[in-house]
Amino acid sequence: MDFLKEYSENIDRELRSLAIPESPSNLYDPLRYFFTMGGKRIRPILTLLAAEKFGSKNHEAMPAALAIEIFHNFSLIHDDIMDEAPVRRGKETVHKKWDTNIAILSGDVLLIKAYQQLNTYPENILKELHTVFNKTAIEVCEGQQMDMDFENISTISRSNYLEMIKLKTSVLLGCALKIGAIIAGANQTEQQQLYDYGINMGIAFQIQDDLLDLYGDPSLVGKQVGGDIIANKNTLLMILAKEDANSDQLNRINELTKELNSEAKIQGVLTLFEQLNVNDKCAKLMNSYYDSAQGHLNNIESKSNKSALWRLTNALQHRAY
Ligand code: IPE
Ligand code: IPE
Ligand code: MG
Ligand code: MG
Ligand code: MG
Repeated sequence: MDFLKEYSENIDRELRSLAIPESPSNLYDPLRYFFTMGGKRIRPILTLLAAEKFGSKNHEAMPAALAIEIFHNFSLIHDDIMDEAPVRRGKETVHKKWDTNIAILSGDVLLIKAYQQLNTYPENILKELHTVFNKTAIEVCEGQQMDMDFENISTISRSNYLEMIKLKTSVLLGCALKIGAIIAGANQTEQQQLYDYGINMGIAFQIQDDLLDLYGDPSLVGKQVGGDIIANKNTLLMILAKEDANSDQLNRINELTKELNSEAKIQGVLTLFEQLNVNDKCAKLMNSYYDSAQGHLNNIESKSNKSALWRLTNALQHRAY
């Protein structure tokens, strides 16, 4: 995504220049740490590109872009507590480097900092921005709760899974785009097209996140390999495996759910996934959602005049981290 380097560098610079007090250091050091860990900055880039697409200049949408990225970072710090994840963006997670209470509270502060960015917009669009943002934030919480509930339910279906990832992941991509469109004064239809594009891309993005969790290069992905298997997540890989498994294979999956040795657990699940060819099936489904996303984008873009969103979607489809 080199063609978007300038955008991500601008966002990084803005994040680093946020006024973060020195004290209490256990509250604020984790924020400084997290902001310098990197990250793809996909969501704020979506906000900036959406705003530009409808004629707005970069700096107008920057506070909203920051609000989205800061909210995302809040959700990651808390997600890592919930998922007991030791590594994020190639570094120790906040609750591991400090402790869980510190990770809860520094996450909370981030959430509030996201609202401070949003509050810089004028009265005439502020209510609309808050309405979209609040709805999304609540949906992300709903999705995260479903994700955790699903760890203990062996009968999760594809449609349960799709509903869950739409909430925990897609709506934030949709919101990032819609907020950019609102700031640029796009009409309701245009806002909705961009939102639907984001929803489909978000579903693809989360399916891919599940694939990368197991099959990605850990030095690029920057997370613990097989973390989803260790946590008994009902990823799309697992759901597709259960759909096609015979009774012996189903018994084996149930056994592995209780396996305490992480290495053995991951190896066992990998073997089953290979037998059932779920990697390919999962990638096909992922691609179908990327195609739907491009379809929604096509509705608002002519063939000869593609925006950077088009290139970004293609780049994401082939991402390695
Ligand atoms: C990770 O998001 C969480 C998901 C919703 C899949 P990203 O893959 O965008 O993480 P960063 O921000 O680039 O680290
Ligand atoms: C995270 O899903 C979604 C949110 C943070 C809201 P995951 O738990 O799969 O994200 P990673 O893989 O830890 O980044
Ligand atoms: Mg996680
Ligand atoms: Mg999670
Ligand atoms: Mg994941």
